[in-house]
Amino acid sequence: MRVLVIGASGRTGKLVLDELRNRGHQITVLARNPAALEGYQVDIVKGTPTNMSDMREAFKRDIPEVVIVTLSAPRTSDSPFAAVISPPRLMADSNANVVAAMKEFGVPKVVVLQAFGVGDSWSNMPWILQLLMSKSNMRHQYEDHNNTDREIRASGVTFVFVRPSRLVESDVLKVREWPGDGRGVSMMASSSRKSVAHFLIDAATESKWDNTAPVITN
Ligand SMILES: NC(=O)c1ccc[n+]([C@@H]2O[C@H](COP(=O)([O-])OP(=O)(O)OC[C@H]3O[C@@H](n4cnc5c(N)ncnc54)[C@H](OP(=O)(O)O)[C@@H]3O)[C@@H](O)[C@H]2O)c1
Repeated sequence: MRVLVIGASGRTGKLVLDELRNRGHQITVLARNPAALEGYQVDIVKGTPTNMSDMREAFKRDIPEVVIVTLSAPRTSDSPFAAVISPPRLMADSNANVVAAMKEFGVPKVVVLQAFGVGDSWSNMPWILQLLMSKSNMRHQYEDHNNTDREIRASGVTFVFVRPSRLVESDVLKVREWPGDGRGVSMMASSSRKSVAHFLIDAATESKWDNTAPVITN
């Protein structure tokens, strides 16, 4: 398939590129710093996802059959309390541009990496995590994901929102899906980034998860 990846230079994004290539897909990426993808044999359009004309260029390059978004709204470090250095609607505005371009170029589907606790899965988060995510600077990331959730659903395009628990660096492990928006997922649950990357591609290439928001762990 022809796949456009937004957020490809990130930790999960790069694993998505590796696995897309293993599976023989044709890849285009939109990246603001192409040097970050040196060594990856992908077609790179230089630009930022918040700029609509950059987004159009990425879509035009090789009109995709599906888009995978692995953006994050960064802080100065991974600590939940580290200062936010992201514009407040980085992911929502980028995804709004993705949706506008999908409509313009007739692309049917987008798969977005989010997190356990976004949207309807919030009420199923253990209370300690709810406290952490609502009182620390993580709340900005959740707000941005929640805006994306609402706006993509309202747009009418086909979507999959993939919502893993805490990401860890380990090998590909069996993915467990949690029906009921993650009811029962424990505080210590984790998901290997590689497994998540594989799941994002499964969700992009199969219709099984269309218009759903699976909560996953290992
Ligand atoms: N950490 C966890 O435990 C956890 C758990 C569940 C879900 N998640 C979710 O996983 C997602 C991806 O995380 P990750 O760790 O793979 O992300 P990451 O390594 O921080 O990568 C972030 C990506 O977003 C891009 N980006 C950031 N700021 C940008 C800006 N201002 N303009 C354009 N692009 C920008 C980066 O591009 P540059 O390379 O150009 O900076 C990069 O491609 C996040 O949405 C997060 O909520 C994380």
